[in-house]
Amino acid sequence: MTRKPIIAGNWKLNKLVSESVELTEDIKVKLMDCKKENLPVVVLCPVFTAIQAVANVLEHGKGIYLGAQNCYWEDNGAFTGEISVPMLADLCVSYIVIGHSERRQYFSETDEMINKKAKAVLSHGLIPIICCGETLEQREAGITDEFVAGQIRAALKGLTVEEVTKSVIAYEPIWAIGTGKTCDSPEANRVIKMIRATVAEVSSQDAADKIRILYGGSVKPSTIEEQMGMSDIDGALVGGASLEAESFAQIVKGTMLARTK
Ligand code: PGA
Repeated sequence: MTRKPIIAGNWKLNKLVSESVELTEDIKVKLMDCKKENLPVVVLCPVFTAIQAVANVLEHGKGIYLGAQNCYWEDNGAFTGEISVPMLADLCVSYIVIGHSERRQYFSETDEMINKKAKAVLSHGLIPIICCGETLEQREAGITDEFVAGQIRAALKGLTVEEVTKSVIAYEPIWAIGTGKTCDSPEANRVIKMIRATVAEVSSQDAADKIRILYGGSVKPSTIEEQMGMSDIDGALVGGASLEAESFAQIVKGTMLARTK
């Protein structure tokens, strides 16, 4: 089963429009010498206010896609401050990160809200990057698998097999996000296999074989090759290291290297 890897940069609440444009241009230049067919799918997720400007810099079809960090599930209406999926699609956004642990933690997003968002994203033909992952307390209490499987079951509830197959999952242990502590690759791979088994149980074996499951949490140029050498890790959701063109480009190139070995 070959699943095309995805490297997504989650810029979080960082970078003004001009800085976002500069970073995008630098990433483009650094990846210019890579053969398109060898590149993973590269996704850049700027803040909402920079999406249009980043879209103008990206040439679609050249392997670099635009992502958003969040969305609302209604298309329009009296929902002050929200941004809908059709509005993001209008700006050429293809991927939308949903259920990031920071949104769950700081903005009280629930599994039910994340499920509604996944449905909204898919109904407009975009691809959700559905995040899941346990806290340190949950890991220490030995309930990682049970907790993460529960998040996945809730997020995928009511999706068709085709919709699940098209979706992307990011396993991001919360204790590894922004801490510099990556989850050991074999352990990340083990949890990701468990997520795949959960997908098979709630959807189908074919969807489980095809769905891309990324790892996220302090991914760096020095960790990516080992991570991409694992059987079930299909790419990375990168925070801190995606804010600099050099480290992000090295992660993309490390992915290519690992896959050609
Ligand atoms: P990090 O963030 O790479 O800075 O740990 C990952 C994420 O939150 O998606």
